[in-house]
Amino acid sequence: MAMALEDGRSRILIIDDEQVVLESCIEILLDQPYDVATASSGARGLEFMEEFRPDLVFVDLKMPGLSGLEVLEAINRDDPTVVTVVITGYATVDSAIEAMKLGAYDFIPKPFTPDQFRVITARSLEKRKLVLETIALRREKEMLRENFAAIVSHELKSPLSAVQQNLFVLAHQLSPVTTEDQRVQLERMKSRIGDLLDLVDRWLRSVSVDLDGIRERFETLPLSVPITKAVESVQPQAVRKDVEIVVQERAGSVYGHEGVLTEALTNIIGNAVKYSYEGGTVTITTKQLDDRVRVDVTDTGVGISEDDRVHIFDDFYRGDVGMSRQSGAGLGLAISRRIIEAHNGSVSVESELGRGTTFTILLPTEAPEPPVSRLPERSEI
Ligand SMILES: Nc1ncnc2c1ncn2[C@@H]1O[C@H](COP(=O)(O)OP(=O)(O)OP(=O)(O)O)[C@@H](O)[C@H]1O
Ligand SMILES: [Mg+2]
Repeated sequence: MAMALEDGRSRILIIDDEQVVLESCIEILLDQPYDVATASSGARGLEFMEEFRPDLVFVDLKMPGLSGLEVLEAINRDDPTVVTVVITGYATVDSAIEAMKLGAYDFIPKPFTPDQFRVITARSLEKRKLVLETIALRREKEMLRENFAAIVSHELKSPLSAVQQNLFVLAHQLSPVTTEDQRVQLERMKSRIGDLLDLVDRWLRSVSVDLDGIRERFETLPLSVPITKAVESVQPQAVRKDVEIVVQERAGSVYGHEGVLTEALTNIIGNAVKYSYEGGTVTITTKQLDDRVRVDVTDTGVGISEDDRVHIFDDFYRGDVGMSRQSGAGLGLAISRRIIEAHNGSVSVESELGRGTTFTILLPTEAPEPPVSRLPERSEI
């Protein structure tokens, strides 16, 4: 991704088949602190993108060969952070609107005055700066999150594990002399420390599921395998609450990792049981679509309010469930989403308060195709 703005000089590429337009643009920007390059056809312009890495590209809409819209599409596909502005004739305002739908930031009609061109250039570069800043902030936030997880793992996990071990030894050594009350107290301490260690582990998982590691072990497997395993592990909770789990269909296959898919499904089916009323029903349906498989987990439980719905996939977020407090850390869905997204899948939710909720998971069936190069054939240039 081009980061020219970071070193001060912005790079501008102008693609137009009219030499006079190119020359006048260069002249207008001559006294400005920009590096300007030009290309006289769409294909040449695209070829030049990688080498020049512009911040801003002006594209003439009407050119022989590759059209402006095709150029725009290719740029946007390759690096959507590059700001694009289309140059249009008066008669082509409609296509300018079309271009903006395809991701162009603005358009400038021909003929334009030097001032108009300078203003639109400055504004577009400002936009580019904002886009890059937003990306940098997002990256920083992600790094903070991951660093924080690393710190927690060292600073919290190791001493906690040490305390746990010492406690086990101590409880064992003292066992001949402890009273029943003391034994219960020691057991309670062990169990609370165990809970804390579990929590730290789950949180670490929510921030740093080893995505690349698991991707290497992806294979095509029937979706029924992780579903059956997830249902088995949730069944005891369901029995306790008299909730019936119905698996309606088990069709479809998925390209992924059985272990972590089971984990994600266990979280989501587990929630469906946990947030169900006594005697409720949880229905799991799978459907093979063209290149994806769809899983719906529907419950007849408490539902999720609109305010909560936007946050439930965040770390540690727990909604107001309008039933007696359920145990949990608010991490299950955060982990599940990361797992599903690591499979290039998606998870969404629909819900009605007091009536129930459906989580819908879409997962690819096949391994992704290797990316196709967007560069035009030599003969096109
Ligand atoms: N099927 C559901 N019905 C109603 N509310 C739900 C459902 N699934 C999730 N929620 C809401 O979303 C919140 C977040 O869910 P998540 O699984 O991340 O955490 P949790 O279940 O509270 O705790 P954990 O999964 O870490 O034990 C829950 O606290 C609950 O408010
Ligand atoms: Mg949960």
